[in-house]
Amino acid sequence: MNDKTRILVTCPKEVPPLLAGEIEALGLPVLSRETAGVMTEGTLEDCMRLNLCLRTGHRVHRLVRNFDAADADALYQNIAAIPWEKHIREDGYISIASSVRNDTIRDNRYANLKCKDAICDRMREACGRRPDSGSELRGVVIFLHWHGNRCSVYFDTSGEPLSRRGYRRMAVRAPMQETLAAAVVMTTGWNGQGHFVNPMCGSGTLAIEAALIALGRAPGLLRREFAFMHLKDFKREKWEAVRAEIAKQGRGSPSGRIIATDINPQAVAAARQNAADAGVESLIEFDVCDFAETRVPEGGGVVVFNPEYGERTGETQALIPVYRRIGDFLKRSCRGYRGYVFTGNSKLFNKVSLKPSRQWTLFNSNIECRLLEYEVFGTRSGSGLETAST
Ligand SMILES: C[S@@+](CC[C@H](N)C(=O)[O-])C[C@H]1O[C@@H](n2cnc3c(N)ncnc32)[C@H](O)[C@@H]1O
Repeated sequence: MNDKTRILVTCPKEVPPLLAGEIEALGLPVLSRETAGVMTEGTLEDCMRLNLCLRTGHRVHRLVRNFDAADADALYQNIAAIPWEKHIREDGYISIASSVRNDTIRDNRYANLKCKDAICDRMREACGRRPDSGSELRGVVIFLHWHGNRCSVYFDTSGEPLSRRGYRRMAVRAPMQETLAAAVVMTTGWNGQGHFVNPMCGSGTLAIEAALIALGRAPGLLRREFAFMHLKDFKREKWEAVRAEIAKQGRGSPSGRIIATDINPQAVAAARQNAADAGVESLIEFDVCDFAETRVPEGGGVVVFNPEYGERTGETQALIPVYRRIGDFLKRSCRGYRGYVFTGNSKLFNKVSLKPSRQWTLFNSNIECRLLEYEVFGTRSGSGLETAST
């Protein structure tokens, strides 16, 4: 429990800089940034903190052992040499996940099977029986990272990805993954000061993540189940203490307002329910309306859109006027705000009738998306509107 080991936190591509910032803010070192993850180090207790606090991480992996393995037999031998009986209960349940790029392996499932056999044979030898195994993430999860001859075996201490916060029981079409929504809010720089306006809110993910960020509330507090709870050295009292300490942290209410609207009443009902489950319903003002009717308060802040982005050509054509109208709305109603549009359709990137001041690439699963920023200068009473039109 108190041994320090390497910890690999995975995340979507392009997110490692944000994730590295989160890890450092928790007082842990950033040893390296990978394409889709960050390497740090710490104890099992640190893994608990990471699972509770991270907003942009997907899974927290605690290193068990590194070794070289040229083929499946070498993999088996090396894995069978690990004292699994110290970590896993013989009457427990295990599942294996992997990322394998080794010339001798054509199917990951073969590597997973070898790994499972090695663990179970070792356990049977040491304890007289072996844990059950399968693909469900309901027990100890082992993650095998085997690229070339280099193999790293980890405990996946999260199990279900951390994007499953537990508050989104009601989803509408094309909901945004919670970790991606957090990455979008963090990229806008919004932290509770100024207003957060989210027309086209769908199931409310952006507004809910914004509220959690503004409160400084750890998103993992909403979850009851993590894979580390099934490890033999898991101490419930320690976990309760870590959880209680993190639950005490946080800031007061944001000074800015959070406003979420959608044209679809069912989406707003779902968003309201999700916000209630996340414990932030009182912080978000919901309304059913066309996005252009959203009441944007004086005072400035951010306006964040995640419009549909369509996949077929016909859909893209139909969405062009919607994106134009978003630009018109920003110009007309959002002076003093920074506007953001998150979209995954490259044909729509330049259809907002404004020139972006900055843009970032983010991935929604494997769809390359853009977060486009538009600065809308001036005040509503003043005459100085200075946005660049395309
Ligand atoms: C891609 S979804 C947003 C998903 C959201 N980020 C989430 O996590 O659930 C786009 C939303 O825009 C809404 N919408 C489409 N046209 C609209 C309009 N003219 N005015 C307001 N909302 C609109 C849809 O009802 C849908 O909920």
